[in-house]
Amino acid sequence: MQVLIVGGAGYIGSHMVKLLCRRGCEVTVLDDLSAGYRDAVLAERFVLGDLGDLSLLDKIFGANHFDGVMHFASHIQVGESVRDPAKYYRNNVFKTQCLLDAMVAHKVNHFIFSSTAAIFGEPVRVPIDEEHPKNPINPYGRGKWMVEQMLEDYEVAYGLQAVRLRYFNAAGADPEGELGERHEPETHLIPLVLQAASGRRPHITVFGADYDTPDGTCIRDYIHVADLCEAHWLALQRLWQGGGGGAFNLGNGNGFSVQEVIDVARTVTGREIVVMRGERRPGDPARLVADSRRARTELGWTPQYADLATLVDHAWRWETR
Ligand code: UFG
Repeated sequence: MQVLIVGGAGYIGSHMVKLLCRRGCEVTVLDDLSAGYRDAVLAERFVLGDLGDLSLLDKIFGANHFDGVMHFASHIQVGESVRDPAKYYRNNVFKTQCLLDAMVAHKVNHFIFSSTAAIFGEPVRVPIDEEHPKNPINPYGRGKWMVEQMLEDYEVAYGLQAVRLRYFNAAGADPEGELGERHEPETHLIPLVLQAASGRRPHITVFGADYDTPDGTCIRDYIHVADLCEAHWLALQRLWQGGGGGAFNLGNGNGFSVQEVIDVARTVTGREIVVMRGERRPGDPARLVADSRRARTELGWTPQYADLATLVDHAWRWETR
């Protein structure tokens, strides 16, 4: 099977490329390398280019017969999306529509979209299932929810079948140590904590310790990147077997506080980690935990790396590589 992976040089996309190659797919990567790395692409076919370049898309789709398309090429910083919404709507919404229109024009019907827990906004109930109200509170989340709705309309009108996967907190690294998280700048908790452990940063700042949680720090549902990729693979199988599109929340269903993550990181690394207390980060809900039962029952998904220490260990091996 031939699969196009847009954003295959980035964190999650590069892990997906590796998995698909392992499973015998012919993978083409399209990436502009604005946030990815050429050396993270473990597929032979790499196209350097912009997702908004319509003639390039036409050329790529004209030269290949893709059985599926996966789209990882998003900007992902919530705070930046508030400061510069145009950047987020242009890249995450408009350019995604360019991709969808090229798919429709070339009759490519199977699409897997990287969505996010940010579409739910401040949760009204936890754990968060797929039917939870969608009330995104920043341009990042709003853009992702716009695309989800666009996909529903494209399915009705053009027969484009899409699986929308709502990631909770993607973390960890390739268990074989070949790939990992390389965001610039890094804003995510686990890599920052590990950089504080390795000495690349002097400390980790905890954003708020007065939340309504047992230890006062925010609770998140950390999901291993390898488990996320496995869910994409199962979603692709579902589309290929005629199971149709749908939306799935992807997390472990276990919440860990910021303080617990730091404690686990101290144990895994055996290093001292200097912690500073900071202000709350605007827009951070106290608790985000997924109800992923639908992915388990309908996709047959079982996370293999649900243990936080294993996830942190894989990220640590990448950090110290
Ligand atoms: N945190 C700190 N210090 C840091 C960095 C993070 O205390 O230096 C805290 C945050 O306040 C939050 C938790 O660690 O409570 C996790 O923060 P991340 O930035 O790692 O992840 P988020 O939960 O903010 O974001 C994730 C995805 C986003 C997505 C969001 C959905 O990375 O892309 O979930 O709400 F939008």
